Amino acid sequence: MRNRPVDLKASPRKQAGKRRGRPSETHSKKKPHNSSGTRGPTRAEQSVRKDRKPIARRAGDRPSERAPLILETPAHEGYALLDTGDGEKMERYGPFRIVRPEAQALWPRSQPPAEWETADAVFTGDTDEDGVGRWHFPGKPTGESWPMRLAGVDFLARLTSFRHVGVFPEQTAHWQWMRERIEESRRPVKVLNLFGYTGVASLVAADACAEVTHVDASKKAIGWARENQALAGLADRPVRWICDDATKFINREIRRGNRYDVILTDPPKFGRGPDGEVWQLFDDLPHMLDACRTLLSADPIGLVLTAYSIRASFYSIHELMRETMRGAGGCVESGELIIREEARDIKLSTSLFSRWVPA
Ligand SMILES: C[S@@+](CC[C@H](N)C(=O)[O-])C[C@H]1O[C@@H](n2cnc3c(N)ncnc32)[C@H](O)[C@@H]1O
Repeated sequence: MRNRPVDLKASPRKQAGKRRGRPSETHSKKKPHNSSGTRGPTRAEQSVRKDRKPIARRAGDRPSERAPLILETPAHEGYALLDTGDGEKMERYGPFRIVRPEAQALWPRSQPPAEWETADAVFTGDTDEDGVGRWHFPGKPTGESWPMRLAGVDFLARLTSFRHVGVFPEQTAHWQWMRERIEESRRPVKVLNLFGYTGVASLVAADACAEVTHVDASKKAIGWARENQALAGLADRPVRWICDDATKFINREIRRGNRYDVILTDPPKFGRGPDGEVWQLFDDLPHMLDACRTLLSADPIGLVLTAYSIRASFYSIHELMRETMRGAGGCVESGELIIREEARDIKLSTSLFSRWVPA
């Protein structure tokens, strides 16, 4: 099989911040360029979105807090962080060793150059997060896609044009938590997965017998998620795959009166809906989180937010979550998602998170 990287984005975009870079932009019908020629927001787009609802000030006490909380990805047969250093990381995704830029790996590597040079796939190019680049195959080509298993779910990994492989293993800490909460609730549970990408989180929820609504702006990501559903043997489970702008979708759900017991939201710093709707985390997140609160059911299980590639402390999303959840009781737990290197006791920070859980 030839190695043909999949492009889940319309064009590269430079991002600030040095945590994990992940797919952010999506294919859209409208692809305006700003004055610098990149696909960042144009001047017109920087104005307030018309569907951004004013935020009502919530009454009541803020939830209790637990921070910092560092969540570590449990060891998996499907994934390992093998070595890090000198601005790169070497990981094992299923049977393949993959080398990619990692701006946070400021320290020296532990394994000899020969180990790195014989990796199955190496991404080189723009060291910026989500930057353009190319895959090289020092050994036998990996194939276009390959099956993997994480958090009890089978899915397809694939080399994308923007260095990603279709899954973010650090998220398994949230997925495992969600699976346990759904299973121990022993009742029908509805899960909403916003910015759901290739659907692994949605499939973990479906495997735990939840009814799932998955939203992503990228048709390709939705297609891949459907492939994953079939591969995972979960084709008969109730999953709604929705290609839409996340903000538009949740505003519609509020009007329809639909509610969810678990909401996962993993927004990029910048992204676009299918009709070119602009998502800018620093402008849109407070509104989105407020809408998510409205969308929680009367007997909720949790609201989980992850943020990456942003210049912010986890305290900024922690305090936003506590303000958003005023009067709801429960606890807000926030911190970082990390992955521990296999050989040494080195911890690689991948993203910030904040989650509200009921008392
Ligand atoms: C980092 S990925 C999320 C990863 C996912 N939570 C996981 O762990 O597999 C970000 C996703 O946001 C989607 N996206 C970007 N802008 C969007 C928008 N306005 N509405 C909905 N999805 C959007 C992208 O298509 C991409 O799949």
